[in-house]
Amino acid sequence: VFAHVPPYPGDPILSLMEAFQQDARADKVSLSIGLYFDEQGRLPVLDCVRQAAQALSQNAVPCGYLPIEGIAPYRQLVQDLVFGADHEAVRAQRIATIQSLGGSGALKVGADFIKRYFPDAEIWLSDPTWENHLAIFEGAGLRTHSYPYYDAATGGLRFDAMMDTLRGIPSGSVVLLHASCHNPTGVDLSREQWQQLIPVIVERGLIPFVDMAYQGFGDGLDEDAWSVRALAEAGAQAFVANSFSKNFSLYGERVGGLSVVCNDATTAANVLGQLKATVRRNYSSPPTQGARLVQQVLQSPELSAQWAGELAEMRGRIKDMRARLHHALHERFGERRDFGFLLTQRGMFSYTGITEPQVHRLRVEHGVYLIRSGRMCMSGLSRANVQHVADAIAHVLG
Ligand code: LMR
Repeated sequence: VFAHVPPYPGDPILSLMEAFQQDARADKVSLSIGLYFDEQGRLPVLDCVRQAAQALSQNAVPCGYLPIEGIAPYRQLVQDLVFGADHEAVRAQRIATIQSLGGSGALKVGADFIKRYFPDAEIWLSDPTWENHLAIFEGAGLRTHSYPYYDAATGGLRFDAMMDTLRGIPSGSVVLLHASCHNPTGVDLSREQWQQLIPVIVERGLIPFVDMAYQGFGDGLDEDAWSVRALAEAGAQAFVANSFSKNFSLYGERVGGLSVVCNDATTAANVLGQLKATVRRNYSSPPTQGARLVQQVLQSPELSAQWAGELAEMRGRIKDMRARLHHALHERFGERRDFGFLLTQRGMFSYTGITEPQVHRLRVEHGVYLIRSGRMCMSGLSRANVQHVADAIAHVLG
């Protein structure tokens, strides 16, 4: 019966995590999947989360089904965090927000919703983008296209080419944008560039779908959400997927949100209803624990402040690692090769320009794991391994 089912070649990112776990070498370094590791190479349990878990365990509540759309106070806290509590769109109640299964779950519910209510819409994604964006939107039945984004020659952005393309695509098209900390390149639009892009989106009637999986890892919680807030302020009707996987180190809890910015509160209520219908058809209702933990932190001024501090530490450590790797590579290469992009790219990822065969050699010969595209996850670096990584890169680049 199942003879025609082909083997699964494995996910390009998650399969590397499995290979890494099976690698017996003591000096192996995981720079592939987007996980934040601390200086000791461990996934942190944030202190604010530990305290939230303790508080919750002292007050055990039954584990019934959550509402389809998730926990109401959690959903409000998501809106406040993503848009800012005093954003006009929040106060006007013109945003529909549901609790989602991480950022991927938000993308999937949004994609299904788009397929149903905008059946002819096609989606435009940055070249390159996170591999799973393509899988999720194609899986939901949308046609995907790409717009120019990364400039391999400079390690920067092809902004003019991006704008030309977006000016020419059909009105009503969906445009996937990364709020900050672009995955996989680490190359973001500047505020000035967003200010040029946003009017084009609004005037041309494009539908932005903003993925914000790394809020707080670029410049700060508010700074990283600036693009989302500016879009909503300019009157864009937009989808926003946000994730607490990385910034709360709650990967396995699958906790995030999907917000849809509408024109008015009545439309938002209808959209919320249809998002609920989409969830019910998918997985019925979301899980409890992760959202309770996030809620417990965000509703407490003390725990939120502590969280912001712990996040600032993670962000600072990544920046430090960028500087250290840049320094070590500059020592090895001098003027022969420019690694300045390590300092200008932001967030967890950098696109290194290391080719697929070189990535292969890094893994096989040195136990240094990158994604085959040459994407490096900077948060896998530590003071203990950065020299080993620089030496390995110097070895394969020759
Ligand atoms: C990544 O890009 O490494 C992360 O978003 C994790 C994932 O699920 O791929």
